[in-house]
Amino acid sequence: MQQTSVISASDENYKEAVSAATELLRAGEVVALPTETVYGLAGNVFDPNAVAKIFAAKERPSFDPLIVHVSSRTELERVAVIPDEIQATVEKLLNAFWPGPLTLILPKHPDVPDLVTSGLNTVAVRQSASKIFRAIGKELGQPLAAPSANRFGRISPTSATAVHKELDGRIPLIIDGGACAEGLESTIIHIAVGEKRPTITILRPGPVTKEMLQNFGKIERPKRPRDGSDVTQPAVAPGMLPSHYAPRTPLILLENAADFRPDRSKKYGLLSYTGEPGKGYTQLYPWAVVEALSPGNGKLPEAALRLFHLLRKLDDAGLDFIVAEPVSEVGLGVAVMDRLRRAASPA
Ligand code: TXA
Ligand code: MG
Repeated sequence: MQQTSVISASDENYKEAVSAATELLRAGEVVALPTETVYGLAGNVFDPNAVAKIFAAKERPSFDPLIVHVSSRTELERVAVIPDEIQATVEKLLNAFWPGPLTLILPKHPDVPDLVTSGLNTVAVRQSASKIFRAIGKELGQPLAAPSANRFGRISPTSATAVHKELDGRIPLIIDGGACAEGLESTIIHIAVGEKRPTITILRPGPVTKEMLQNFGKIERPKRPRDGSDVTQPAVAPGMLPSHYAPRTPLILLENAADFRPDRSKKYGLLSYTGEPGKGYTQLYPWAVVEALSPGNGKLPEAALRLFHLLRKLDDAGLDFIVAEPVSEVGLGVAVMDRLRRAASPA
């Protein structure tokens, strides 16, 4: 066990937060940092010992590769090699979405340690839009490997408090930058040359939606089944391992109200979309607790932002089951439903 400090990145404390984090990273340590999506557990990508510490703190299996965060185009070229045939598409995507929640799978630069990519010849790269994350990356002058700052298989943290619950005693420092602006992990894409237009495969749906990517190529979903049954294979499509984003309390994603057969001796809580009486499932059952993703108005960005926070809250509410209401699968709703499906216990 080690002492885990928390330093606020508020305006008056900003410089101190940047230098404390950078100093530890320079010494080969790992630090939890806020990004605009979820909190990440960062380490210098070129320091294999730091990368090993990330895997150890998260208890992450070594076959699940990490996302690399760069703070400039120059840094991108230190970790990835962009093939000529997709250069123009990559350029357009970066201009449109970086810095921001879009991760590209690209051929890996030989300098990136194999541990980072789990031996794959590709690397996942993004540039975070978080001001404090970028300031720390710049000050360090190295790209940062940073997966979500949760223990393996658990819900991604969207606040410093959530990181603390996951990794207290396992890491030296958490930078508290408040609640994350997006609340869901970045969209992960792979780009290939298509017949007429490039093909963009969405490996993990996220804040950059299919609708937003449509102008840049033909959009595809991964061909592999999404049941994550073969965990021995390196993730072709990411986050496809079973029990990802899972609360400890069993979660039922109730796509159809008629399928609900409650056991009256058990305690059920509802994760509702709007929480409004008479809407969705609020009156389907005398729920022990009701939490609303988007109180009142049913807006998807708000639902995305609150999803992981509310899953954690319901997980701590002493329930036997969490019942989740589906949201419509358009725009950000695709990513919200993706995370709910993975949080759901096998039927
Ligand atoms: O928003 C985010 O992406 C957050 C923040 C911290 O940046 N990071 C994040 O990292 O969600 P992580 O490690 O929790 O999820 C990364 C996913 C994993 O499911 C991994 O399998 C996949 O990316 N991945 C990494 N490298 C890959 C590669 N070369 N090919 C395919 N999938 C890859
Ligand atoms: Mg993760």
